[in-house]
Amino acid sequence: MNSNTKFLKATAVSPANIAFIKYWGKRNPKINLPYNNSISMNLSNCITTTTVEYLSNLKSDKITINGKKAEGEQAKRVSDFLGMIRKRYKVKLHAKVVSENNFPTKAGIASSAAGFSALALAATAAAGLKLKTKELSILARIGSGSASRSVIDGFAEWRAGTNSKNSYSYKIADVDHWDILDIVAVVAKEKKKVGSTQGHAAVLTSPYYQARQKELPKRLKDLKKALLAKDFKNFGKLLEEEAVSLHVIATTSKPPVYYWNRVTIDIMKKLIDWREEGVYAYFTMDAGPNVHVICRQKDAKKVNSRLKKIDGVLFTIVNTPAVGTRLSDIHLF
Ligand code: PMV
Repeated sequence: MNSNTKFLKATAVSPANIAFIKYWGKRNPKINLPYNNSISMNLSNCITTTTVEYLSNLKSDKITINGKKAEGEQAKRVSDFLGMIRKRYKVKLHAKVVSENNFPTKAGIASSAAGFSALALAATAAAGLKLKTKELSILARIGSGSASRSVIDGFAEWRAGTNSKNSYSYKIADVDHWDILDIVAVVAKEKKKVGSTQGHAAVLTSPYYQARQKELPKRLKDLKKALLAKDFKNFGKLLEEEAVSLHVIATTSKPPVYYWNRVTIDIMKKLIDWREEGVYAYFTMDAGPNVHVICRQKDAKKVNSRLKKIDGVLFTIVNTPAVGTRLSDIHLF
């Protein structure tokens, strides 16, 4: 992009995703290279919309997130990412960025995956670039590791890779492959005390991390097989084992991080009881106390109404599998 270029504005829409096999620990924190592959589903009701416009009158990036001017660490992270894009693609101007989440803000749902994938697409499209899906996944990964998966439609696998060029996500099944839902039971709205960046950085201090890495290839292979074969009970068993494994690492890292609260554990136990009654739903949690309850469409109503009645569940968000990052012509400014 040179000074004669007609400056463009672009808007991207992108979903958050829930990890079935988790990314926990970075081989290279500078470019977010993970130790292991991970698998996820995009969430239809946890969406970020971001508009980027490069403007010649700006001396620095002007960033607004959920109606508020971004400041401190949050502004720096976005601006550093834009700086990296400017350097890579020879963009000379600073940008006005407006970003909004459709899911309740501060609901404790990881928004960095939706945020950085939307920003990667909007910032490159506004510079007149048309990146291939693989390139976009690589770029989004540099913003936030899990963002590399949000770019992909439906169900994605992020190949860990060994360098920046071969660490990206690709589709393992389309949006309509399986009618499973992720009902997020929100049990805490405040920002978590320990973010995932600190959690990732501490993994090697857990004596159990090597054991986790040793068992992961088999669990990943088996879960992927169950997902592709739509073997729900086997899938659910592996899903829960994997969720607990991440939290074993977090709680045995030094210093330990306890992401769960009383209600998290209450929900986990309830799901086990419900399965004994024939209502099949399984839990997974990312780096926070909210419980992602995975069930099939036929049980969704029952599971959702039961979840809402649990003391301490503030509200639920029902998600179907969703398409990945897309451009939109409805700009935020
Ligand atoms: O992308 P990050 O740095 O926010 O890390 C995400 C970590 C987990 O959500 C806990 C797991 C995952 O794979 O999404």
